[in-house]
Amino acid sequence: MKIIQITDTHLSSLKPQFEENWKPLVAWIDSLGPDLVVHTGDLTVDGADFEEDLVHSRELLRDLQYPTLCVPGNHDVGDVPGTRQPIDGERLSRWRRIIGPDRWAHDLGEWRLIGLNSLIIGSGSSEEDEQLAWLENTLRTREGRRVLVFKHKPLFIEDPDEGESGYWGLRPEPRLQLLALFAANGVELVASGHLHRARIVDRAPFRCVWGLSSGFVVGPMVHMPYGDALLGAAVHTLGATVESRIVPLDTLRPIVLDDVLHEVYPPAPVKGALS
Ligand SMILES: [Fe+2]
Ligand SMILES: [Fe+2]
Repeated sequence: MKIIQITDTHLSSLKPQFEENWKPLVAWIDSLGPDLVVHTGDLTVDGADFEEDLVHSRELLRDLQYPTLCVPGNHDVGDVPGTRQPIDGERLSRWRRIIGPDRWAHDLGEWRLIGLNSLIIGSGSSEEDEQLAWLENTLRTREGRRVLVFKHKPLFIEDPDEGESGYWGLRPEPRLQLLALFAANGVELVASGHLHRARIVDRAPFRCVWGLSSGFVVGPMVHMPYGDALLGAAVHTLGATVESRIVPLDTLRPIVLDDVLHEVYPPAPVKGALS
């Protein structure tokens, strides 16, 4: 059983700066012929504010000839309260209407794949409570299936016991809750995106994989000492063990966000300033 994990494609018809990497990515996926493709979020440049980005990305996803599952990223549905684009009912329902459910369970033989909406984790919302109850039930009723989890934000950056990691990881309290829940239920792999860096960590009770973006890398504008700034995808081969492979793709153009940040993600206008 072969799963290709793609992530952080940041597609948009309004801001197509990363679009040229989509077709070569699809060609590479076709050359491998996976059983399933999982997109771990930031499908769009700004689906959180522009419905067109979600509609356009949905059209491009149709290029994939394989069953495909997606979880949302912060650029698709917004982020936790207190951020520039807080997730809300409107953003969430737009994702659900255009792309599909923001959390899901998918059984493949002896495997149960679980997709989570990581942008509500730590929000204190009723959506978060509902997702946690759903997750506990989905794990409890797995009937011996082996479990893989996919979500946009990584559980931790440096260490499972770290404090607040701000923009990058989950908040400490829900992180520890999920770590305990995953460990108690024999989860074998937690795969995420968001960092635009490739990394495999086997230190936790389960393997954590940071999927590498197929859209762009982030240059020195962000100090991130962990993982590798590569473009490509990850391949998870399910057998007696889960084998995870980072696959850099030299058919993708190594676009660096730093060079186009002012066009794609300009700073938000200051309230009250003259426009
Ligand atoms: Fe991203
Ligand atoms: Fe992200």
